[in-house]
Amino acid sequence: MSYKKMFPMFKNNKKFVYLDNAALTQKPYSVIEAGNEFYTKYSISTRTSDSKLGVYVLNKLNQARENIAKFLDAQPDEFIFTSGTTESLNLIAKMLSKWFDSGEIILTYFNHNSNVLPYIENFNDSKFKFIFAETEEDIINNINVNTRIIALPQLSNNIPKKFNLDLIYKKAKSVNAIVINDAAQAIAHSKVSLSNCDVIAFSANKIFGPMGVGGLVVKQELLTKLHPAKWGGGQVNDVQMCNWNLKPNISRFEPGTPNLPGIFQFNQAIEFIKKIGYKKIVQKEAILSEYLIKRLKEIKDIQIETYPDSNIVLFNIGIYSPQDIASYLGHKNIYVRSGVFCAHNFRMLNKFSKSYVRVSLSFYNSKKDIDKLIEALKQGGDFLDFI
Ligand code: ALA
Repeated sequence: MSYKKMFPMFKNNKKFVYLDNAALTQKPYSVIEAGNEFYTKYSISTRTSDSKLGVYVLNKLNQARENIAKFLDAQPDEFIFTSGTTESLNLIAKMLSKWFDSGEIILTYFNHNSNVLPYIENFNDSKFKFIFAETEEDIINNINVNTRIIALPQLSNNIPKKFNLDLIYKKAKSVNAIVINDAAQAIAHSKVSLSNCDVIAFSANKIFGPMGVGGLVVKQELLTKLHPAKWGGGQVNDVQMCNWNLKPNISRFEPGTPNLPGIFQFNQAIEFIKKIGYKKIVQKEAILSEYLIKRLKEIKDIQIETYPDSNIVLFNIGIYSPQDIASYLGHKNIYVRSGVFCAHNFRMLNKFSKSYVRVSLSFYNSKKDIDKLIEALKQGGDFLDFI
């Protein structure tokens, strides 16, 4: 079955070879329709709550929160809507910085910058020590009574890496350290759960949902200790001059008018993933990954960086610049990404190249997409020589 039929981008762009799924996934009809339905049938702010449609959208918002939280083994009052992974990670770092006054923070060399810079900015004090780890063992061996935070990606977006959160979380809990899971990549390919971390950050955009919406999921026992990092309407019971008191529910972390069409589309994206199922997604991506690696090996002077079954495959070809290769492919309607993928720290490990071309697969890709990539790379020899 061609999954591409579910996505209008492929129907409208027959020659579109999309291989940058780690950056953005395409949107199925059901997700697009959920946004359209909001604007054409019940376009009301949650602030217009004393009305028939107001009650309707509020109920729909609560249902979406419940459904998305459940997908991550979380409770609705553990789920904060945000604008995406970057905002989620910035908020949690800021909230935690008010709570800890010293200690160690473990990051990995493969963290996206949005899971590095917020800690450097908010814990920029000689009382904090930063440790960069390369492997799961490094992380576990570095955890000690001074560890406060361990922030890592369940699955990376750069050098392909998978981290076993069960093992890391077990050790972290023995010293009461907080584990922050940047699940932006993982959630499109594998189960993400609040049972093996304290915090999950992710975006709808990478799981067939809309842009500009995501989640920050925080375990209840931690969330009750944290103070909001954003201020505005809808989060307080009362304000009297310079004093206020916060609402006792999740609204205290969500000031401002919620992105309702985005949230309803987000909920449809979760339904879409549930309908396809991780089992089928993993099976299909493993077949594609094996085929991609096999075919890339036909290219002269190629160096490949990946692991078996990874949906991300990085490569370099001879002396050619990755950006020239990506640009050459992009102008042939074959979409990949080049560079360091907003994760500069992997370059501190000398065993890796300074930049790569990245192909990132989704279950809706086909062997034909890969054949077109290989054909273009083979044809490209002359063109690239010219550059
Ligand atoms: N973080 C996204 C990527 O890896 C944008 O491309």
